[in-house]
Parts: sequence; C-alpha cells; structure tokens
Amino acid sequence: MARYNFSLREVRALATLVLIGPITVFFILPKLISMTVVSTVIAIGIWLFTCNRLARGPIAPFYGPTQLQGKTCLVTGGNTGLGRETALALAQRGADRIILACRDTKKAADAVGYITATVGPALKTRIEVRGLDLGSFESIRKLAASIAADGHPIHILVNNAGVMNSPYRLTADGFEEHIGINHLGHMLLTLELLDNLKQNKARVVTVASSGHAYRNQSRFPSVDSWLYPDRQKWIGMDRFWQYCNSKLANILFTRVLQSKFGDSGATAYWYVWLLCHINQIIGRTRF
Ligand SMILES: NC(=O)c1ccc[n+]([C@@H]2O[C@H](COP(=O)([O-])OP(=O)(O)OC[C@H]3O[C@@H](n4cnc5c(N)ncnc54)[C@H](OP(=O)(O)O)[C@@H]3O)[C@@H](O)[C@H]2O)c1
Repeated sequence: MARYNFSLREVRALATLVLIGPITVFFILPKLISMTVVSTVIAIGIWLFTCNRLARGPIAPFYGPTQLQGKTCLVTGGNTGLGRETALALAQRGADRIILACRDTKKAADAVGYITATVGPALKTRIEVRGLDLGSFESIRKLAASIAADGHPIHILVNNAGVMNSPYRLTADGFEEHIGINHLGHMLLTLELLDNLKQNKARVVTVASSGHAYRNQSRFPSVDSWLYPDRQKWIGMDRFWQYCNSKLANILFTRVLQSKFGDSGATAYWYVWLLCHINQIIGRTRF
C-alpha cells in the first residue's frame, strides 16, 4: 500500500486540531451550556478569534505548497466574500491571470485593489474584471464568447457566486433566482467553457453548501418545482429550502460534469467548506 508522507505543515495542522478538538468538546461546550450570557459571548469570541488566527497563521492548512505559475483562473463573484478571498489565495500562489467575473464591476475593481495591496510587491498575477450576471443567459454567453475571442485558456474555474435567502424573484430568463443564479447560471457558464476546460485539463470547483442536505422534498417535490415554484404559495421559509435545493443541484451537476470530462484530464469538484478543509488538513486534496 502506498504511504502518504505528511508535510510539516500538515502535521502542525493536525496537531492543532487534536488540541482544539478536545478543548472544544470537553471544556468549551459544557461551559457554554451552563455559563451566563456574558461568559458565553466571551467564550465564543475566544473560539472565533482562535479559528481566525489559525486560518491566517503559518499553520493554516489552506496555504499548501502548490504554485500556480502559468495558470489562468476564473472566479465568479470574485468581488467580495469567499470569492474575493479565493482570488487572493490564487494570486498568493502565483497564478498567471485571474479573471474576476462579477455583476458589480465597481466592487470588483475594489477587490483588485485589495488583492494587489495584500499580496504586495510579490504580485505577479494579472487580475482582470469582466461583467457577468449569472441571472442572464445572454450575459453568461457574452462572457464565454469574450474569453474565447481573447484565447484565454481556463485552468481553474471557481463557480462561487451565489444568492441565499432571496425573496421570490425571477432571473431574466424566468427561473426562480436561487436555482437560476446558483445552479443554472453556473451550469451554462461551465458548459459554454467546456471545450476550453477539457483542452486545458482544468479543475472546476463549484461552491456548494452543507445546506444541500436540507433540501425540502415536500415543498419542492420535483425539479420542475425547483425551477418554477408557485409564487402564490411562496412563504418566508421557502427561500431557505430553495437555496438548499440549488446547492444540491450544484453537487449533482458536478457529478454530471465529471462524466462529461471523460478521460480529458479535467476534473470537477464541489466544495463544502468544512468537509473540504478537513480533507485538506489530512492531505487528501490539493490544488
Ligand atoms: N458564507 C458562508 O457561510 C457560506 C456557507 C456555505 C456556502 N456558501 C456559498 O459560498 C458562495 C459565496 O458565498 P459568500 O458568503 O462569499 O457570499 P457573498 O459575500 O454574499 O457574495 C456573493 C457573491 O455572488 C455574487 N452574485 C450574486 N448574484 C449574482 C449574479 N446574478 N451574477 C453574478 N454574481 C452574483 C455577488 O455579486 P454582487 O456583489 O454583485 O452582489 C457576490 O460577489 C455562495 O455560493 C454561497 O452559497 C457560503
């Protein structure tokens, strides 16, 4: 059986988990149950601070050794939140070019400033902003056409953008927004880029959510009802269930995509932060 050699970084990350795990389970959790509100807030604050330091510090498992020189990456919704931090991490690994495909291009320009300032003089990456409204098939096709026209290879596609808990709204093409933007939009974008992705043995990462497990089958029993839920019956909770449905659709699409890639060498992944980070910590997945 092949042996896996843990790097020093991974050993440190594991050791940290081994320390933090028991402290959380045996010390913090029982205290949370019995302590006053003030001390609970303090405990949560300390816990969040520790997690934050771990994620940023030298033992963070997300900063693996892999470098991305020569790679072109496209991140949807790279103007804020997880998308912006993903773009930053790709730039820190020396990606050649990062395309931030965003609806709000002004915010995207600010994100370029943030990444440039954070990486500093070491930055070798060209960061481009391109308009993309995932709620419009026309906009998606326009972006794909512009990438084809420029002849950019896509080595890494991060399908990150998403809406959560939106009120009942339709995309430009008449689909409910959660399923339309989170799933259909990314599906169309990926399929429009399919040949490019296959030729470049790309990695496609679609950001799903643990929420995929909570899809509501009684309220949305069929895929048809995911696409066209009944406006008259739409109530507050439906937006959450529909978000979960869209995230399940992300995962199901990833499976189909991997089969479409066949033996081209391209790979499709879905990502749920906790599972993925644990996998990274134990060294199973890497860029
Ligand atoms: N944060 C979490 O705890 C968490 C947990 C599980 C899963 N996720 C998933 O992680 C991904 C990113 O989450 P986040 O927390 O970083 O969200 P966020 O901060 O709200 O950012 C969402 C991004 O999606 C973009 N977006 C929304 N609608 C769009 C559209 N029609 N066309 C193009 N872009 C659009 C937004 O662009 P604008 O700036 O133009 O609005 C923004 O860039 C999402 O897919 C989310 O479901 C997040």
